[in-house]
Amino acid sequence: MTLPYELALQAADELRVRAGVDSYDVAVVLGSGWKEGASALGEPVSEVPSSTLRGFVAPTVEGHSGMIYTVKVAGHTVALVSGRVHLYEGNTAAQVAHPVRTVIAAGARTVILTNAAGGLNPSLAPGSVVAISDHLNLTATSPLEGASPPASMGSRFVDLSDLYSARLRALVRSVDPRITEGVYAGFRGPHYETPAEIRMVGALGASLVGMSTVLEAIAARHMNAEVLGLSLVTNYAAGVTDTPLNHLEVLEAGQSAAASLGDLLARLVHAL
Ligand code: HPA
Repeated sequence: MTLPYELALQAADELRVRAGVDSYDVAVVLGSGWKEGASALGEPVSEVPSSTLRGFVAPTVEGHSGMIYTVKVAGHTVALVSGRVHLYEGNTAAQVAHPVRTVIAAGARTVILTNAAGGLNPSLAPGSVVAISDHLNLTATSPLEGASPPASMGSRFVDLSDLYSARLRALVRSVDPRITEGVYAGFRGPHYETPAEIRMVGALGASLVGMSTVLEAIAARHMNAEVLGLSLVTNYAAGVTDTPLNHLEVLEAGQSAAASLGDLLARLVHAL
């Protein structure tokens, strides 16, 4: 079987050819809620269905279509990765990390991972955007499990002390000073957490909870990319209020925030 690293290098070559670009500078992974606003980055110069690229699995979540859009923004060639895949769809950690590995292998040195998250702090109203300062990986897996990466990619024993770039977080705050920072707790899902689990991660310092991002961040850091994580708070986490959680609420919060998220992404990429 082809190693995940080898597979990403092959998919990156295919992507460059299909998208008609020599190399990318920036990649943005579009999570729930972020896709609708991404048109603010400009008209794509190409669209490549990820199903045509080696190693990509099809997303099964509504509202996620598997596509890599290429846009040119302020002199940067940007890959917009739409149609994230998750562990809870039955994918392995390597499959979850594959799109991010592919765009990094295609040149992207800056990776912006976006997601929808539950907020633990009552002051984090739905609609708020939070920059991820660190994470708790509660998925009990790693994209670096398995065969050792090739020497060109560095050791699998990667240091994560600066996983979410302080430089990029400062840049986000300069673009929108209302954006706060928080620790993201990544669970496997797909069920939402129990109030006890939310109290547990709250006691451990988390203020955001979700089902994505952590594995992609680890894989990106391992390939030496600079990582920024942005969460759109779509709901209060379980037990924070009396309202039961539902997936529709998460999707609706994304839709109503679309314009401001698009504007934020556009200003951020211009500032890079
Ligand atoms: N928990 C986990 N994932 C989520 C949530 C949540 O409350 N909201 C959006 N994604």
